Amino acid sequence: MADLDAVKETKEYYLDIPQKSEAFYLKGSNALGWGMQNRLARIFNPKTGRTVMLAFDHGYFQGATTGLERIDVNIMPLAPYADTLMLTRGILRSVVPPSMTKAIVMRASGGTSMLKELSNEEIAVDIEDSIRMNVAAMAVQVFIGGEHEKQSIINMTKLVDQGTRYGIPTLAVTAVGKEMVRDARYFRLATRICAELGAHYVKTYYVEKDFETVTASCPVPIVIAGGKKLPELDALKMACNAIQQGAAGVDMGRNIFQSDAPVSMIQAVRAVVHDNESPEKAFELYETLKAEG
Ligand code: R5P
Repeated sequence: MADLDAVKETKEYYLDIPQKSEAFYLKGSNALGWGMQNRLARIFNPKTGRTVMLAFDHGYFQGATTGLERIDVNIMPLAPYADTLMLTRGILRSVVPPSMTKAIVMRASGGTSMLKELSNEEIAVDIEDSIRMNVAAMAVQVFIGGEHEKQSIINMTKLVDQGTRYGIPTLAVTAVGKEMVRDARYFRLATRICAELGAHYVKTYYVEKDFETVTASCPVPIVIAGGKKLPELDALKMACNAIQQGAAGVDMGRNIFQSDAPVSMIQAVRAVVHDNESPEKAFELYETLKAEG
């Protein structure tokens, strides 16, 4: 117990300093609760407002993807350079050491394989398990225009409702069917529907033409998926263009873990996203780090 004899009478209330009341730095997120904002701040670096999410959840529908055969060997060395890891709960429990304190974005939808109709998903994780895993956000696939469009949208709205009870944000991942055109018109539609129905941030693909209209018309942050493997310089150019046109970061998988030098590549991607480095300079960094081994 505190020693009552030693209580000081003089106190300083700093009457001339108003208490700070800062707006939250992320687009469209100012009205969220403390827990939500705190989790988003673990994903989006408060200094830059951006994120490098390392995506390696591909196995949830396509099994041991090239580069993800041994996540302990191939992916864990990349973790120190990511802001966030995006993965399934199975990989989190079985491979990722609990001493790792990176923000986790957990894949929360599933139920189909690449051998079947992918849009026929459901929510595949209980909210209680997300809480037990201390996740920073939950991710759900949304198939606008897909065969099971409505089901996937309702998966998302249910996840948003569950997450809101406990302050856990939802990332809506726009999935584009093979038969659909990947253009700004489609992504304006898909991202806006996800945001209107409650997603806290949205993942989409970058498109060369009019991508800035996609980010402008989506009221919450957008991150871009990397998509299929490109030459490293092209992937860095894509990340740079997306950032310059309003994206708040990348959620990149194959363009990092299928690179010839994944540890070098993720550092080059970081330079583009967080340091506003040009793709050419970032590529030089990639080559230097690669040469250093
Ligand atoms: C799809 O399997 C997942 O949503 C991936 O997380 C997403 O496609 C990002 O990975 P990539 O950069 O390889 O496209």
